[in-house]
Amino acid sequence: MPKIAVLGSGTGSNFQALLGEFGDEIALVVSDQPDAGILGKAEAAGISTVVEEGGHDLSARILKHLEGIDLICLAGFMRLVKDPLLSAFPNLILNIHPSLLPKYPGKAAWEQALADEAEMTGCTVHYVDAGVDTGEVIMQEEVAILSDDTSETLHARIQLAEHRIYPEAVRLVLGKIRGGA
Ligand code: GAR
Repeated sequence: MPKIAVLGSGTGSNFQALLGEFGDEIALVVSDQPDAGILGKAEAAGISTVVEEGGHDLSARILKHLEGIDLICLAGFMRLVKDPLLSAFPNLILNIHPSLLPKYPGKAAWEQALADEAEMTGCTVHYVDAGVDTGEVIMQEEVAILSDDTSETLHARIQLAEHRIYPEAVRLVLGKIRGGA
């Protein structure tokens, strides 16, 4: 059975959504934030956790914990994944991003969409490469922006979409891994 590591810096709602479907596969949660909600959620589910705080060698330190891991899912991980971690997992690191990439890469993408007075935004699951939110898109879902949306209401609706497409995209990628594609 493929083993998954989830990396997150925040509350962990996407981790929770993945856990619903991949509870047997998720073997480890890694966070760069000692107080992140994702850690408590993982511990409550009986999943091993590791904290590695930021620094120039963060990717190397994280990699040391990933023996036996087949797939990495970034779930609100607010750090860049670099070598040697990146090249150790070619096309095996996924990320969920709160916009329809290539629009609004980087931080607080829903606020970028509001500031842009866009009518539509959404979320994207993509492969991670060396750029910032530039890797190949796997799946997207659109979310309409309502005239009375605030930063909070829009992000909350995008997150509902994230929780739908992230498990679906992981299922697709695991199918490819199992099939040897
Ligand atoms: C999610 O909305 C995710 O898309 C975003 O952080 C949030 C984490 O929430 N990620 C990024 O902005 C990455 N550039 P969660 O901790 O509840 O899953």
